[in-house]
Amino acid sequence: RKRIVSGVQPTGSIHLGNYLGAIKNWIRLQDTFETFFFIVDLHAITLQYDAQQLLRSTRDTAAIYLACGVDPSKASVFVQSHVRAHVELMWLLSSATPIGWLNRMIQFKEKSRKAGDENVGVALLTYPVLMAADILLYQSDLVPVGEDQKQHLELTRELAERVNYLYGGRKWKKLGGRGGAIFKVPEPLIPPAGARIMSLTDGLSKMSKSAPSDQSRINLLDSKDVITNKIKRCKTDAFPGLEFDNMERPECNNLLSIYQLVTGKTKQEVAEECGDMNWGTFKIVLTDALVDHLHPIQVRYEQIVSDSSYLDEVLAEGARKAADIADVTVNNVYQAMGFLRR
Ligand code: AMP
Ligand code: TRP
Repeated sequence: RKRIVSGVQPTGSIHLGNYLGAIKNWIRLQDTFETFFFIVDLHAITLQYDAQQLLRSTRDTAAIYLACGVDPSKASVFVQSHVRAHVELMWLLSSATPIGWLNRMIQFKEKSRKAGDENVGVALLTYPVLMAADILLYQSDLVPVGEDQKQHLELTRELAERVNYLYGGRKWKKLGGRGGAIFKVPEPLIPPAGARIMSLTDGLSKMSKSAPSDQSRINLLDSKDVITNKIKRCKTDAFPGLEFDNMERPECNNLLSIYQLVTGKTKQEVAEECGDMNWGTFKIVLTDALVDHLHPIQVRYEQIVSDSSYLDEVLAEGARKAADIADVTVNNVYQAMGFLRR
């Protein structure tokens, strides 16, 4: 079976962008593929953070995965830092990563510009190497992520090829290894719709955990009142009717797309249903659809967090299954790179 891995950072609260761009798409994949879904806690310390909050967020994020329908009897669900091979492989990979590749990463450039050099830890720069380790450890075929992760995926692919070239094949065989490729080269799996959910207050910037205003995003755990209020106050435009794909109407396209994704309707159905609506009418329809979709998730979330031993068991079992596979890969890499094994 083909392997799939993906993860979300436990920073701030999980929002509609994380859900529609990533988590929701994991659910249908777990039936057909061998899936590994992790909470990337090690990635969450690359910018200043609060330790108490990381601890809380890590559990919450795990509970949200399960509440959204990730099924631990099908997928391995675990916390990244529970599988030590992630950090180990990262160090090995970092020796083969040209610093220029990392300097070019858009996310690094944006985040480091905002924080300023003296405030940016080295981990923000090497973040994509850890992400590559996350993926390559499991010899993954596909990685379902939102559009913003495309560049990191591309780096992962190039790094896999580079390590295969530098240490794989006959060189590895001479060291007693099996020879051949050390890593499988993974492909990104970016959803046709939902890959880039935009902010509620600005249709040109993506919905993000780090935006200062909570009005800009719908969090998965937002109450009905909060959702109603956010949609009521979200940015719209003064054009008549509603339509997809009009470059001058990014907010309109975004809100129709969100409606489409939470109702499971086709784009055409939504275009027909909403084409003649005004904003007032559509906002009510959209609010109802969001509340209906998120309510069952929120109910399940409450059930899951009320039984902490269940969550602990799921995460322990997930980490065990993941470590079995990850250890094989990291041992191969040590061998191929010429390390003396005990
Ligand atoms: P992060 O919040 O950076 O940990 O992102 C977790 C996952 O959510 C990744 O697969 C991202 O690509 C995806 N994601 C984050 N923000 C958005 C967004 N606004 N639209 C679609 N996908 C997103
Ligand atoms: N960097 C990703 C993000 O911010 C999260 C992530 C870390 C990830 N490791 C991963 C996603 C491995 C997919 C696979 O969204």
